Amino acid sequence: MEPLDPNRLPVHLAVIMDGNGRWAQQRMLRRIVGHQRGAETVKMVVEQASLLGIRYLTLFAFSSENWSRPAMEVRALMTLLKKYIRQETARMMRKNIRYNVIGNRSDLPDDVNETLNEAINKTSGNTGMVLTLALSYGSRQELSMAAARLAQDVLAGKLTPEAINIDVFESYLDTGGLPDPDFLIRTSGEMRISNFLLWQLAYTELYFTEINWPDFTINELHKALADYQSRERRFGRTSDQLSGRGDLSNA
Ligand code: IPE
Ligand code: IPE
Ligand code: MG
Repeated sequence: MEPLDPNRLPVHLAVIMDGNGRWAQQRMLRRIVGHQRGAETVKMVVEQASLLGIRYLTLFAFSSENWSRPAMEVRALMTLLKKYIRQETARMMRKNIRYNVIGNRSDLPDDVNETLNEAINKTSGNTGMVLTLALSYGSRQELSMAAARLAQDVLAGKLTPEAINIDVFESYLDTGGLPDPDFLIRTSGEMRISNFLLWQLAYTELYFTEINWPDFTINELHKALADYQSRERRFGRTSDQLSGRGDLSNA
């Protein structure tokens, strides 16, 4: 395994966990078996991220658009989600991990919301990694809701239009309080964002791998993180500026 520099890990790692269905179909199994295997990968990534000292891990588990899948698959995913949260909460307590959810929770079934509330409340005092699950999440929906709430606050006289800036706008997003992701991993070979964190990914380093989510191993995670550590994040500056040679410019 390639050695990782503990001082240069992403503070916030985000993952689009994709390829469960294809993993199963390639093996003549039902898609839900792929989701079940995917849940095992989630356990591994949560454990590894927490061990490595990553502060924020955000997992895209179910998108606003995923409601359009066959009802049977949606139901199976909701059941699996509930089972996962129930099974894992004790481990989250042991590992000092705090649950957080982003997305349109009012669309989730009541029993799923109850399970989520229990897990969120139980882990709310934990001070280690923040594990954010994106559930019934769509970034355009999040952004338009934020705009609507901003407009309401302006109408109510709580805010003037002149006071709206990047920080104020961000505080209206579901992710208010979370730093932007430093690194995004998407599995299964698809090279798209699929309505995930459109605002928050502005300067995120992107990583795509052909591996399907159920096949994503510790080794693959380390490979991805090693790739992250090889990147130069310039945020608009020049390479010389970053290495402290900025004054020697030959512009
Ligand atoms: C990701 O795997 C899990 C969810 C979107 C819920 P998919 O179910 O999208 O798997 P593929 O892309 O069909 O292989
Ligand atoms: C994105 O995967 C959503 C999740 C991983 C939960 P999809 O498999 O739904 O994405 P598209 O529709 O193929 O882009
Ligand atoms: Mg998919």
